[in-house]
Amino acid sequence: MGHDAPCLPNPLGDIMEDIRRMWSTSEPLFVELVPEQRGCFIVNGVRGFMMKSDMELLDLFTRMLPNGATVVEVGSFEGLSTLVMARSAHINGINVKIHAVDPFLGNIEHQKDDAVIRGELYDNFKANVAASGLASMIIPRRMPSVAAAATFKDASVDMIYVDGDHTLQGCFADLTAWVRVLKPGGVFLGHDFLHRDGVALAVDKFMSETGDRWCVTMLNSHPMGGNMYVIHPKGEFLKKIYGV
Ligand SMILES: C[S@@+](CC[C@H](N)C(=O)[O-])C[C@H]1O[C@@H](n2cnc3c(N)ncnc32)[C@H](O)[C@@H]1O
Repeated sequence: MGHDAPCLPNPLGDIMEDIRRMWSTSEPLFVELVPEQRGCFIVNGVRGFMMKSDMELLDLFTRMLPNGATVVEVGSFEGLSTLVMARSAHINGINVKIHAVDPFLGNIEHQKDDAVIRGELYDNFKANVAASGLASMIIPRRMPSVAAAATFKDASVDMIYVDGDHTLQGCFADLTAWVRVLKPGGVFLGHDFLHRDGVALAVDKFMSETGDRWCVTMLNSHPMGGNMYVIHPKGEFLKKIYGV
């Protein structure tokens, strides 16, 4: 991937300094924008769909996990978000198991991607995880999200990060399937709240059906796609963030 400046505003800002600590304390950090794919970055050779603020938020919530925590990621692609969480846990001395759930076939919007066409997403994910030295924290679950959720007991997972199927039906199915397994006091994060033809509608539908119990808070917002949301039991979010 070349370093030529793309015809897009540079959304990276001071990303080098800000995420160096969470990525590694020693390795140099290389971040590239993939000009032909909106919202796609390569961080230390790992391609993914995370803005700087998304990585900061994943880092923030990972740092608050208890030792021995179980984490589920829905939608791992080539492992960037998986490795942001794994690195953060490692650097902060927290032992976690991250279940990386993905059929590794790409979303509808990825079907023109070369790695997706060649069926290489899973191999690329495994290679990136192996190269990170953090494989012991990561359990690949090569299957669709709802089938994976059925293998988890109620209230058994400390943190869930949903960034899988972005369609209304797919994302709604994910939210419904995974909220059941969240532990009391656990963290449920999702990505691409501003994906207005799919994720936003799914979150809206989820709220209209479960709004007596759950709230949604948008955590950040960027026109290129950095927009995380958190689903939390009514009244619990500030307690989680501020400990009050
Ligand atoms: C936007 S990408 C994830 C990007 C990744 N979180 C990152 O930032 O590096 C969405 C991923 O969801 C996966 N996906 C699509 N449908 C899925 C499903 N039903 N269950 C789990 N993953 C799914 C796709 O294969 C794709 O890899």
